[in-house]
Amino acid sequence: MTFRRIATWVFMSLSFAPALDVLAQLQPVPVPSENPITEPKRVLGKILFWEEQLSSNDTVACGTCHQPAFGGADPRFGRFTGDDKGTIDDVWGSPGVINMDESGEPMVHDMFGFDPQVTPRLAPSSFGSLWATEQFWDGRATSEFLDPLTGEVIIASGGSLENQAISPLFDPVEMAKPKRTWEDLITKIQELKPLALASNIPPDMAKAIAENPDYPSLFEAAFQTSEITPVHIAFAIATYERTLVADQTPWDLYMAGDENALSQDAKFGWRVFQELRCVNCHEPPLFTNNDYLNIGLRLAKYDLGRQAITGIEEDAGEVKVPSLRNVGLRSRFMHTGEFSRLSEAIVFYDNGIALPGRDDIPNGGAYNFNITGYVPYDLEAFLRNGLTDPRVENETFPFDRPTLSSELQGNK
Ligand code: HEC
Ligand code: HEC
Repeated sequence: MTFRRIATWVFMSLSFAPALDVLAQLQPVPVPSENPITEPKRVLGKILFWEEQLSSNDTVACGTCHQPAFGGADPRFGRFTGDDKGTIDDVWGSPGVINMDESGEPMVHDMFGFDPQVTPRLAPSSFGSLWATEQFWDGRATSEFLDPLTGEVIIASGGSLENQAISPLFDPVEMAKPKRTWEDLITKIQELKPLALASNIPPDMAKAIAENPDYPSLFEAAFQTSEITPVHIAFAIATYERTLVADQTPWDLYMAGDENALSQDAKFGWRVFQELRCVNCHEPPLFTNNDYLNIGLRLAKYDLGRQAITGIEEDAGEVKVPSLRNVGLRSRFMHTGEFSRLSEAIVFYDNGIALPGRDDIPNGGAYNFNITGYVPYDLEAFLRNGLTDPRVENETFPFDRPTLSSELQGNK
């Protein structure tokens, strides 16, 4: 330990009183009463989440873009350029399906040719947002869940995951041919052999498929009817997601009283994370306050963010504060994917060029982070080691999953 290090430690011990009101434990994931968690539903949801055959051309599953070992996000990335390549509005996004015509045949795309199309924002974690009332960077998947066929209210409140889950299935960049209908999708699912394209299928999924070798019988086990409906597809996927609770990080153990769970660097990092007011937005224990804020990464004219949903000018360029649990596993950072290293995302707060529209820190005044000396290393140690759940990193239950066929082909 250098002198400077000891001096910092003494200084910090004297000057800093830890936030005593930090909530030390994750609360249970909210579950809407209309869609209680059951084991057959969870397993069906897991199968659907990892089912590449849900995409129109059998190449992309939810899990293609949301892999636990990469923090519930995407190890792959591609360039989304808009109409003009190589300009300031280019971002990194997640590759989905190639462009198709309405019959599902490949069709050349202006921006991507015959390569997989790329989403205009980077994929966030699929399980960092389980406590949020809205999903997506801009919160456009809201809490009330309506039956997509009848418009009937199915979940009055707390159904944002159900709402979110149906959107990629019809998104012509992520999983679908243009103008795909529910009838197309349901007819297809009825005839599929579950996970026919996957390998290394985890025991819970393999057992369910052995007992119920087609989708109608898997739905029957989960919902007591073999009818495959949009609501039941959404219910199953959301149920699976609600069981992916990454609450076994070293920070969780430390807060429960295990002094040795965090390395000394990570302990320093945890202190400065509080002292610098990172906690005002990345609020423990989830490390997000689930609010929408603009940290000045990008001019709002390139992506209105929250404003596009609320219509309120003040919301320009705001995006949902991402949970920092498992952030060290991500391959790129921010909704633009502009940083490929965690350290860059950290020092952005100090060195980043302040773009107009940046919000103040909630209850914390203007930006002034002063991330110098050892601070960036300590913050990184805290985020990378302190906030990684080993089950997520190693993809062990409940974060285990099959190998996708696209991974074996070595492409996307
Ligand atoms: C082609 C890649 C891709 C596929 C396939 C995909 N997603 Fe995503 N996912 C994304 C991107 C990109 C976003 C962010 C989009 C936005 O905010 O505008 C996202 C957002 C989400 C979110 C919101 C998380 C948050 O913090 O708000 C959830 C949950 C999610 N996806 C689950 C799913 C499920 C379930 C499926 C399958 C039905 C799926 N995704 C398929 C790329 C993908
Ligand atoms: C004013 C609220 C606010 C404060 C304060 C704040 N953040 Fe953030 N943070 C955000 C938002 C919003 C994003 C997402 C930005 C985007 O994608 O445009 C983000 C993203 C991040 C990311 C990338 C996460 C990912 O999934 O890509 C990291 C790492 C991060 N913040 C660390 C920190 C650290 C360290 C501090 C303190 C020095 C801090 N944040 C302070 C709001 C905040």
